Amino acid sequence: MINRLLKLIRRPERGWDPIPETYAREYAEIAYRAPVAVEKFDSLLRCLEGKARPAVLDLGAGPGHNSLYFALRGCRVTWHDVSSRYLAIARRAFAEKGLECRFALGYLEEAAGTYDLVLVSQCWNYCLNDSGFARKLFSLLKPGGIVYATINNEIFFREKNVRLNTLKRYARIFQFLLNSWLNVKIGHPFPSHAKIKRVFSRLDKRHRPQECSIERSGHYTVLTMKR
Ligand SMILES: C[S@@+](CC[C@H](N)C(=O)[O-])C[C@H]1O[C@@H](n2cnc3c(N)ncnc32)[C@H](O)[C@@H]1O
Repeated sequence: MINRLLKLIRRPERGWDPIPETYAREYAEIAYRAPVAVEKFDSLLRCLEGKARPAVLDLGAGPGHNSLYFALRGCRVTWHDVSSRYLAIARRAFAEKGLECRFALGYLEEAAGTYDLVLVSQCWNYCLNDSGFARKLFSLLKPGGIVYATINNEIFFREKNVRLNTLKRYARIFQFLLNSWLNVKIGHPFPSHAKIKRVFSRLDKRHRPQECSIERSGHYTVLTMKR
């Protein structure tokens, strides 16, 4: 509810940006230097073999390093994020390579179109509601399309939380529990692995994927689903 109200007020097209300039620059430097998940991305590309130029949506794309990876391999990429600062960085990166990309500024829930592959890398926690977002992801897929998501889970939450002072720590635990057990989201709590499993096991018939795998990989929950 609170997040929904804030979404109406905090509009990226009116200049609101949650990412500070310095943070965006530093994150981009690290992201472009760090190797992307090459093996996984290549295996996803192999699943899309046979499609002339697969349509890829990079949701919560940040500086666009993953978008660029897929564009360099011939995909038609849509970059989607709420941050204009990341938008400027991603645009520059594509311009430098002389590659095309569709850029869409907006909240995760505002993504439009249908795709062969939807990438959700480390941004699931910014959605307004976990179940609603799972249904949204399904609706963004073409038949046979794939969602690949790496989701920071409760282990990531614990690692981050120990660095906070006591008051903030308890506030975050409260947010986490509210979201886990009552599906009430204040701020951006990381969903637990169990919550993600629960969300997908309870999807209604209309949004049920053909295939769905939810695996734990340390502080990530890795979701692969096929429409
Ligand atoms: C941790 S970064 C991940 C960036 C990139 N996907 C990666 O794997 O490095 C989270 C991203 O989510 C974006 N973001 C945060 N809240 C968002 C929202 N409500 N809607 C869309 N994007 C959002 C941020 O701007 C940021 O780019």
